[in-house]
Amino acid sequence: MSETVHLTIDGREIAADPTVSILQAYAQSGAELTANVGCMGQGVCGSCRCMVRKDGERQVSTLLACETRVEPGMQVSFIDYFLPAHVHHYDLKDLHDSWGMLDQIRAVFPEAEHCRHCSGCDRACPKGLPVQSGVAFSVAGDIAAAAAVFDQCVMCNLCTLACPENIRPNHLGLFVRRSVAALTLRPIDLMRRLREVASGEMSVNVTLPRVETATAAPRLAAPAQDR
Ligand code: SF4
Ligand code: SF4
Ligand code: FES
Repeated sequence: MSETVHLTIDGREIAADPTVSILQAYAQSGAELTANVGCMGQGVCGSCRCMVRKDGERQVSTLLACETRVEPGMQVSFIDYFLPAHVHHYDLKDLHDSWGMLDQIRAVFPEAEHCRHCSGCDRACPKGLPVQSGVAFSVAGDIAAAAAVFDQCVMCNLCTLACPENIRPNHLGLFVRRSVAALTLRPIDLMRRLREVASGEMSVNVTLPRVETATAAPRLAAPAQDR
């Protein structure tokens, strides 16, 4: 049988089975999980961001508590997230084609050009994403490369908290990913069907009783803002 591990989470001494994650250990200790938890172990919501100092180490790492196994002597502090006063607003309908991407990025995220290449965002990212490169790709207008960098982003906001230039890299990444989707992706089955209807290859019988379901013409996403 495995030995119990002792660690500290938010100032509380916790005893845990060595096979569990920090988040599981905290829940099993009887603590009320009222914040810093969302997907509860899937590693996709980014809520369980925390600072971890391992026993005998000086360095503190930023990690996801649900993806990190407990270790003896660990010190863990969950990290709150405060909405910055500076929030980006945009409407993807302003984006008519990819020729406008550079202007849009400059207009919505002007501070991105001020990146000082400090790598703070890279070090903060618990997913190990090359965040700084994603910002650089965005500023250069290489939106496909930028979107690929942020594809695995879980919006934990640790890079935003780390950035001395208030760039909010993950929100820039989300904007780029939304833009790529808005400009390039359409459901191919719907496209084929609309073409068949338009050409007369498929007829639509309008005499049948209407079924009251919500239908909407294909359109770009609603106005968005970051959080
Ligand atoms: S890019 Fe930023 S928000 Fe996304 S996972 Fe990494 S640190 Fe978290
Ligand atoms: S933390 Fe901010 S300033 Fe530093 S490299 Fe990342 S985006 Fe640039
Ligand atoms: S609880 Fe969702 S990423 Fe950890």
